[in-house]
Order: sequence, then C-alpha cells, then structure tokens
Amino acid sequence: MKRIGMLTSGGDCQALNAAMRGVVKCLSCSGEDVEIYGFLDGYKGLIYGDFRMLTGHDFAGILTKGGTILGSSRTPFKLMREPDKNGLDKVEAMKQNYHKLKLDCMVILGGNGTHKTANMLREEGLNVITLPKTIDNDLWGTDMTFGFQSAVNIATDCIDCIHTTASSHGRIFIVEVMGHKVGWLTLNAGMAGGADIILIPEIPYDIDKVIKAINEREARGSRFTIMAVAEGAISKEDAKLSKKEYKEKMKNYPYPSVSYEVADKIQKKSGKEVRVTVPGHTQRGGSPCPYDRVFATRLGAEAGKLILQGEYGFMVGYKNREVVRVPLEEVAGKLKMVSPDATIVKEAKMVGISFGD
Ligand code: F6P
Repeated sequence: MKRIGMLTSGGDCQALNAAMRGVVKCLSCSGEDVEIYGFLDGYKGLIYGDFRMLTGHDFAGILTKGGTILGSSRTPFKLMREPDKNGLDKVEAMKQNYHKLKLDCMVILGGNGTHKTANMLREEGLNVITLPKTIDNDLWGTDMTFGFQSAVNIATDCIDCIHTTASSHGRIFIVEVMGHKVGWLTLNAGMAGGADIILIPEIPYDIDKVIKAINEREARGSRFTIMAVAEGAISKEDAKLSKKEYKEKMKNYPYPSVSYEVADKIQKKSGKEVRVTVPGHTQRGGSPCPYDRVFATRLGAEAGKLILQGEYGFMVGYKNREVVRVPLEEVAGKLKMVSPDATIVKEAKMVGISFGD
C-alpha cells in the first residue's frame, strides 16, 4: 500500500491534470494499492490540512482539461519560514500533516518557487517527487516544462491574428508575451508567428536599434512590423541599473506594462502608429496541446515509477529527448534563461529577426 499526497502550486498551466493522471494511472496499472490525498490550493492545503481523498474516478476524463482539479495558489518561498497571522509555523504544519496521514511521498507540481519549497521539505525529511510545470519554461534541470508548448501555441495564434490586421493598416503591432523574467515563450512564439522584432529580458534592447529595424523594413517595402515583446523585456539603460535603482524607478512607472513603454518610445521618436495587444492569462488557459498531453503523461508515468521504486528527492525532467530524474537540490533556486549566444538566437538573427541589440 502506498499513501501519496499531491498538490499543484504557483500559477497554473495546461497539462497539470494530464500529469497527475499519468502518475495515478501508472500506479494503478502496476496493481499496487494506492491512497491519494489531494491537497487543495497548493501548499496552503498542506499547511492547513485541507485535502480530499481521490480515487481513479477523479482522474478520469481530465487528460484534456486545462487548469488543475486541485486548485492552486502562490505561497512565496520567502514567507514559508514566517509564521502565519495566527502564529502557525507553516513548515512544521506541513510536516505534521504529512506524518499524520502517514504519507509515503508528496508529489508536487510546480515551477521555480514551488521547487524551492519542495526542496526545503526534502531537507526537512519528507519524501518528495516533483514535476516541472510552467508556461515560462524557466526551470533548471529540464529542457522543457509542460504548459510551455500549449502557451507557445496560444501566443502564436495571437501573433497570427495580429498579422492580418497589421498588414491591412500598415501599422506597428506589439504582442506582449508572458514568461516572467525569461524569454523562452516570446522567442518561440515570436519565431513561430513570424515576428520581425523580438525583445526578451536576456537581450536588453536599444530603442534606436528597434526603430532602425522598423525603418529598414519600410525601406524594403514592408507596410507593417510585428514585434513580440516579453513582459520582462528591458532596455539597455535599465539593465545597467542596480536592483535597488530599478525597483525605485518602477515605483513611478507610468505604463501598464513594458510593451506600452516600448510603444510610447517608438511613437515619440519616430512618429509611427503603434498598437499593443496583451493576450495575458489566455496563454495559461484552455486545453493542453497534444504535445503537452503526451509530455505530461510521460513525466507523470516516470513519477509513478519512482514512487513504486521508493526513490525520492527527484524532479522528473527532460534532457536530450529523454525523461530523466534530476536531484531536487540541483534544481531549486536556479533559473534557466535564454543565452544570448544560443543557436536559436543566432538562427533567428540569420533569418532577419531583430532583437534590438
Ligand atoms: O509563471 C507563470 C506566469 O504566467 C508568468 O508568465 C507570469 O509573469 C506570471 O505567471 C503571472 O502571475 P499571476 O498569475 O500571479 O498574475
């Protein structure tokens, strides 16, 4: 008999359900007796003992369902060691709930912050297995996270739709793509959608170079320009600021988001008409794409295998097209960023995409 706890934490994404289903299907197909405790709304559920016992029925028909049947929330890692408003020690509470239910293991699905807490729980002596979810694809130790490809599809669809209206009106269009502090989503959706200019956090932009790229397109006879701008894109000047100076500057930031700043600068400097589209959380919504369904199922199955083997303390990741086990301590606290020297960036430049650098 195995007693498994499960939770999904942080921003949701597509294929969370597919991954959990993969774990449970693998366990039930093995013939092992399993009890599943689903903790609700992320770490909150584990802290406050808010759980539901789940059976195979709960996991039926959810392969294609977006979101998470367990609910999710953000419980920042830096607050985990701080008592809650009633003085509750959150880490102790999580350990107690784990032991009270005599769990063999916690399966935790999440992104960067989630992995820091998962690793802390491992250090505190709990058996933990994690699965890498995030549309940002910024988790260290895995080439791919589930949710990412589905989000690329949605952001690409958005750029595709903008293309037709941009060409009719001869305008400059910015599509702002999510991704937090990294540019994977913008880079991939931008290339897939045929964006002419891609701005990502890892390659700070020079607005004059951006305008130059637009002018060069016009000189070649193009009536419009499509820009894919990461929500974390940053100018060369701002990239030079210290963390403190940047924070100070952002206190009086006059724009709703970075794309509006880029648009304003282009408009003021060049007199050209710019429009901004922000698909926002639609990028995390809807059904997982077929790639993510397969991918999350594979990772889930491997997590099930680890549980059956009693091997804990790993994230199930993906390296060089193989599902792999990565020690949690190697993953926690590190970001996987786009290298400005990455071949994909070079190839994008080779086909004429400007990064404004
Ligand atoms: O990490 C996933 C993500 O969608 C990021 O791309 C984005 O910056 C952030 O979450 C948005 O967070 P929230 O849903 O809390 O607004």
